[in-house]
Amino acid sequence: MFGKVFREARKTTLSTAESVELALVVGRVARKILGSMATVDDKTQVTVQAGVDKSQPRVRKMFAQIAPRYDLLNHLLSLNIDRYWRWRTVRRVPPQGTTPVLDLCTGTGDLALAYYRAGDGKTPVVGADFCHEMLVIGQQKARRVAPVERLTLIEADSMQLPLADDAYQIVCVAFGLRNVADTDRGLQEMTRVCQPGGKVVVLEFSQPRWQPFASIYRWYFRHVLPRIGQWLARNQSDAYHYLPQSVGEFPSGEALAERMRACGLTSIAIQPFTLGVATLYVGTKPAQGG
Ligand SMILES: C[S@@+](CC[C@H](N)C(=O)[O-])C[C@H]1O[C@@H](n2cnc3c(N)ncnc32)[C@H](O)[C@@H]1O
Repeated sequence: MFGKVFREARKTTLSTAESVELALVVGRVARKILGSMATVDDKTQVTVQAGVDKSQPRVRKMFAQIAPRYDLLNHLLSLNIDRYWRWRTVRRVPPQGTTPVLDLCTGTGDLALAYYRAGDGKTPVVGADFCHEMLVIGQQKARRVAPVERLTLIEADSMQLPLADDAYQIVCVAFGLRNVADTDRGLQEMTRVCQPGGKVVVLEFSQPRWQPFASIYRWYFRHVLPRIGQWLARNQSDAYHYLPQSVGEFPSGEALAERMRACGLTSIAIQPFTLGVATLYVGTKPAQGG
């Protein structure tokens, strides 16, 4: 079982050997593509939730600073389990046919890539993020496996998507909704662009409850991970202290399911992964007239 899981998960592994020249060329191309697609109004900056600072400039700057090391740190700090979680997400909510899939807060594009592969290149995938630097890394990875019209990355704010209503069979977000300044607005936008009968999928960190694992994990997550992360990512935005703070504040389990229902989603399924370190939420947008 695990052999198969990790063989599948390894398909998402991408070479980290990137030449400076390639990065510059891809950066220029990405800027050109993204520049023409960006319609986000920077003046729309909201910070509506109390507690940890999720203002758009702060979040964007933080991810811009850690972008070059984001993938490495993700896989290292999660012991590669993040790949397995995305793989399970795609298995649990697989793409079908040619209606596109939308991955929000796509970052460096790992879930978008997993969906592209799962659809055998037949299902178009769009990834959206508001951090240009994360998308540039994502573009490098995407262009190695897919033509731009099949796997498209755009620069867009998840709270104000420049995308049509009812257009995507699956609208997913992995480890991103927690960072969106207004969770409800993010969920409303996900629901708006999802086609009737389609799925809204949220993969997010959660807090394990099963003892003694919960205590050991909490200690690792609050004290060890931020130190290693800060040290390796060398950013000034305290990104790896922000991580446990933002997870601690974010609704999980039934609380998040309730927020999804309030946005009009039904049949919410909650599936903990790895003893509850992460949780997958899947909601259905009711079919028209249903
Ligand atoms: C932790 S990363 C997750 C990246 C990717 N989904 C993954 O699975 O690794 C969070 C991403 O959310 C993006 N993000 C946060 N708030 C956003 C918003 N309002 N609109 C678009 N992207 C946002 C950040 O720029 C960052 O790339």
